[in-house]
Amino acid sequence: MRLQKLLGIETPVIQASMVWLNSAELAAAVSNAGGLGVLGPNAGRKNANGGIASTVEDFRQEIKKTRQLTHKPFAINYLLPIEGVEISFQYAEPLLEVILQEKVNIVITSGKDITKGERYIKRLKEAGVIVIHREISPTVANSILAEKMGVDAIIVTGHEAGGHLSEHRISTLTLLPQVTDAVKIPVIAAGGIYNQKTAKAARAMGAAGVYVGTRFITTFESPASLNTKQAIVNVLSQELVEINTPAGDVRVIATESILAGRGDSEVGIIKKGMLDGDHLNGVITVSESAGGIEEIRSAKDVVCELSFAFA
Ligand SMILES: Cc1cc2nc3c(=O)[nH]c(=O)nc-3n(C[C@H](O)[C@H](O)[C@H](O)COP(=O)(O)O)c2cc1C
Repeated sequence: MRLQKLLGIETPVIQASMVWLNSAELAAAVSNAGGLGVLGPNAGRKNANGGIASTVEDFRQEIKKTRQLTHKPFAINYLLPIEGVEISFQYAEPLLEVILQEKVNIVITSGKDITKGERYIKRLKEAGVIVIHREISPTVANSILAEKMGVDAIIVTGHEAGGHLSEHRISTLTLLPQVTDAVKIPVIAAGGIYNQKTAKAARAMGAAGVYVGTRFITTFESPASLNTKQAIVNVLSQELVEINTPAGDVRVIATESILAGRGDSEVGIIKKGMLDGDHLNGVITVSESAGGIEEIRSAKDVVCELSFAFA
């Protein structure tokens, strides 16, 4: 109940941030079902045109749209700047401004080294924002560091997860109990959680809630293309492959683009593959859980099933 109280939600089921694959409709559906919806990078956008100003303005509009669709709490994913990635520093300030101006009160920070984002976390905390931190490559040590830095909760992601993979090959099953033993703040489990059994396992290992990505791509409300949702429903876990991209390794479905060796060029390939449904040129990045997902369902159904683990 600690996490529910902290966030003002009924059930500790959090829809994960997924670049291009979040929207006001999905976030509101999850929040209206009692969980916590999240707007991640490029939420609600359909094209990659425009510079920083227009991307940030679109983000503001998506926040406003979400507020029209739900009166319940929802969160924003704020990417902490990553050393060596110039563009991440260019977006950091304008995005923070929007979050503070729009008075969003729950922010999920994610990054590769929390110490690099300390000043941004401090500003969020000073503004009274609840901060949940997700380290891309979590360890017991960096979880303790996040707690010391004053974040309110952390998300611990196992190697099963979709999106950019942790540089450490540690599964949710082994990492999560080590972290829940090591910190006092609520720990939210991510990576491979897609049904009631996996959510129950996370709870048994001490998780206060679950952070779920791939399962929410295969919902009616997700902006992913229909052929992407069907590809996830059809794929088996053993058919997934890992590829290298400039931003890190990702696990993907072996679509035509991957078989032709075209998958590793740039991050825009997620938009091409998953939003536009162009499986000849883009990629579909998913979690190992994709093999267990057998149908497209409503976001409300998914929240409801996972919530039983915390009843
Ligand atoms: C298509 C896709 C895009 C993602 N994009 C982001 C992102 O922009 N920022 C982020 O912090 N995590 C991102 N992630 C990771 C998710 O937030 C989450 O940690 C992960 O999906 C949890 O594992 P699961 O897919 O097994 O549920 C992405 C995941 C997927 C599948």
